[in-house]
Amino acid sequence: MSVQIAPSILSADFAALGAAVAAVERGGADFIHVDVMDGHFVPNITIGPPVVKSLRRVAKVPLDVHLMIADPDRYIEAFASAGASMISVHVEVLPHLHRTLQALKALSVKAGVVLNPSTPVSALEQVAGDVDFVLVMSVNPGFGGQQFIPRSTRKVAEVRALLDAAGNRDALIEIDGGIDLTTAPQVVAAGARILVAGHAVFSGGTPEQATRQLREKANAALVAPQ
Ligand code: DX5
Ligand code: ZN
Repeated sequence: MSVQIAPSILSADFAALGAAVAAVERGGADFIHVDVMDGHFVPNITIGPPVVKSLRRVAKVPLDVHLMIADPDRYIEAFASAGASMISVHVEVLPHLHRTLQALKALSVKAGVVLNPSTPVSALEQVAGDVDFVLVMSVNPGFGGQQFIPRSTRKVAEVRALLDAAGNRDALIEIDGGIDLTTAPQVVAAGARILVAGHAVFSGGTPEQATRQLREKANAALVAPQ
């Protein structure tokens, strides 16, 4: 299976999201990563279900919605109805994570759990068999364009081992934060299979070409591990 690329529109021009989506799709994007921030769980505010609904109308690929909000249970249904195909929730805000995962599955979306950089892999232990994917944060969430935290590579390998030990080999590991042409090969070698990239895609040359280059670099690491 090849590595999948999920450009984060957080670094795109919010006045031209349709064009941003079209550009990364031409570059071979597998998903559109949508960062939802509430100003409580993270110190930034972005977008909500109405924008997801509009994106759903124009995007050809599935929408991967990352909820950086204090009370995800209250909003998952709205995001699923708006057209999210994947929804990830932070373990740090969910005392009843197992129940939340069941609720996501009942809504027929792929259920993901996110770990902040300071959250131990052991926080996943009791739900490792229940997740469709795990999102490893390789920066502290809230802003695009931050520097990759090197410890994250080892964490990806630890999450892979935990999922495998739970018999959940189909669950994919996604990684988010500071992913570029340098960090992509190392996280792929550690087991990451969905790469989120905002700054690297939207803040350099053309988003189309940046997406294509990231795909090529990531997939090369599958063939020739770093
Ligand atoms: C950070 C967001 C990320 C962000 C990644 O809080 O979850 O998805 O857009 O951006 P880059 O790739 O710029 O680190
Ligand atoms: Zn994100």
